[in-house]
Amino acid sequence: MVRYPDMTEADLDAVVAAEERIYPFPWTRGNFVESLAAGNGAWLAQEDGNMIGYAVMIWVLDEAHLLNLSVLPELQRQGRGTALLMHLFGLARTRQATRMLLEVRRSNFSGQGLYLRHGFGEIGHRRRYYQSPEGREDAIVMARDL
Ligand SMILES: CC(C)(COP(=O)(O)OP(=O)(O)OC[C@H]1O[C@@H](n2cnc3c(N)ncnc32)[C@H](O)[C@@H]1OP(=O)(O)O)[C@@H](O)C(=O)NCCC(=O)NCCS
Repeated sequence: MVRYPDMTEADLDAVVAAEERIYPFPWTRGNFVESLAAGNGAWLAQEDGNMIGYAVMIWVLDEAHLLNLSVLPELQRQGRGTALLMHLFGLARTRQATRMLLEVRRSNFSGQGLYLRHGFGEIGHRRRYYQSPEGREDAIVMARDL
C-alpha cells in the first residue's frame, strides 16, 4: 500500500541517506531542517511502511513550487515518480494553487522527461543556478497549470 505521510525530523536520517545516494550535489540535513521549520510541504512516499521517495514543495501565493522530488535509485522508472507527482498535483489543487513551477538541471533528462510527460513546459532558465562538476550549470524553469 502506498502512503504519502508528512515528513518529520524523525525521518531525516533516512531522507538524507537517500538524498546522498540519489544526487551528486545533495540537499544537506540543514536544508531539510530549514524546510520543515519554514512550514514548507514535505512528504514521504511509503510502500508498506518503507520510504521509497519524498518531495518538498512551497506555496507562493497561488503557485506551488516543487523544490525536491526523489525516488530511490533502485526503484526509479517504475511509475513511482509519476504517482508521487500526481499526489502533489492533488495537494496543490486542495490548497487552491493554480500553477506548479520547478527548476531542473539542464543535464537532468530523467527529470525533464517526467515533467514533459506530465504537462510541464519550459518557461525560462536560470543561468549557472546549480553547482556542477564543471563549476556551474543552468536550471530550466518549467511550469504547468493545475
Ligand atoms: C525524476 C524521478 C523523480 C522520476 O521518478 P521515476 O519513478 O523514475 O519516474 P516514472 O517511472 O514515474 O517515469 C515517468 C516518466 O518520466 C520519464 N523518465 C523517468 N526516468 C527517465 C529516464 N531515466 N530517462 C528518460 N526519461 C525518464 C519517462 O517519460 C517516464 O515514462 P516511461 O517510463 O513510461 O518512459 C526519479 O527518476 C528520480 O528520483 N531521479 C533523481 C532525482 C531527480 O532528478 N529528481 C528531479 C529533480 S528536478
